[in-house]
Amino acid sequence: MSRDPRVRMTRSLPTVSMADSDVPELPDSHLRERVAGHPDAGWFWKSGAGSVANIHTMLGIAGKSFTDFPRALEFGCGCGRMLLHLQEVGKTVELYGTDIDAEAIAWAQAHIPWVRCSVNEGLPPLAFPDGHFDLVFNQSVFTHLDERYQDAWLAELRRVVKPGGYLVLSVSGEHPFGQLVQAHRDAGGNPEHLLHEYRTNGIVFIEDDGWKGGPFPDFYHSTFHAPWYVFQHWTRFFDLKAYVVRGSLDFQDYLLLRRPAADVPVLPAKPTAGTSATATAGAAAGAPLSARTDSRRLSQRVLRGVKRRLRRLVG
Ligand SMILES: C[S@@+](CC[C@H](N)C(=O)[O-])C[C@H]1O[C@@H](n2cnc3c(N)ncnc32)[C@H](O)[C@@H]1O
Repeated sequence: MSRDPRVRMTRSLPTVSMADSDVPELPDSHLRERVAGHPDAGWFWKSGAGSVANIHTMLGIAGKSFTDFPRALEFGCGCGRMLLHLQEVGKTVELYGTDIDAEAIAWAQAHIPWVRCSVNEGLPPLAFPDGHFDLVFNQSVFTHLDERYQDAWLAELRRVVKPGGYLVLSVSGEHPFGQLVQAHRDAGGNPEHLLHEYRTNGIVFIEDDGWKGGPFPDFYHSTFHAPWYVFQHWTRFFDLKAYVVRGSLDFQDYLLLRRPAADVPVLPAKPTAGTSATATAGAAAGAPLSARTDSRRLSQRVLRGVKRRLRRLVG
């Protein structure tokens, strides 16, 4: 039995009956699993409502609500786990969703008429003019990108948000990273290389994860952020208005960001203390090659289990 209480929480979620009049048609289980980490319809539906409530809470920190933003974009919306819950909001807010997953977007376009959906490439640009949106939000997208992709998308989101506009974005912070470390320990592994990377670089990108060979492109893996890294690097692009630990589904951290009203240039990156800004699991700095290889093999095995747990929670 898992020691993570949230795994139990997801398991105890009610299964949604398709006869339930409150529940619209949902995407097939494979599309649900891609975004929610679990095929269960009940979790997909309930967690979507939970994520929308989380966004409301984050906007509330700025004294705002959804309807204060005439035009809003969900970046990395998948098949619309959150957008399905924004029908009322869509009556006054022009809602857009974009994602690399053409199948998910086709489903959303056909079933969520209050949103304009489109497919984007893995790297920018988006097909929107400068300053098009008053609000950009997402859940669990930067949790899958390495630093190069992350910086490219932070710059692009800054471009498409109006000066003075807001963003709500999530990262996998200390809580998910702690679960990863614990899973290594539980499996008899030594997570020291992960801890070293996290402490030194503030960002850990794990390629040997459960997404390898999965439905997403090669760049899509598992990323963990230390809060100090976000404060140091993301503030090159945006003003950081709030950092709410576990503000997203009680698991990932949620950030409230704002594009500065006056247009200041994006600042250059500050060097991090380590030798590289990202790390592959098992590539402990300075470890002998055999130790790295053993460590990588163990990481792959352990991460399959860890990733299964993480996917059950947040995708
Ligand atoms: C864990 S899912 C979350 C989906 C949705 N935000 C939700 O919470 O239900 C991650 C999503 O990010 C999308 N994604 C990954 N990289 C992307 C990129 N470069 N541009 C747009 N979407 C991306 C994936 O296709 C996937 O739908």
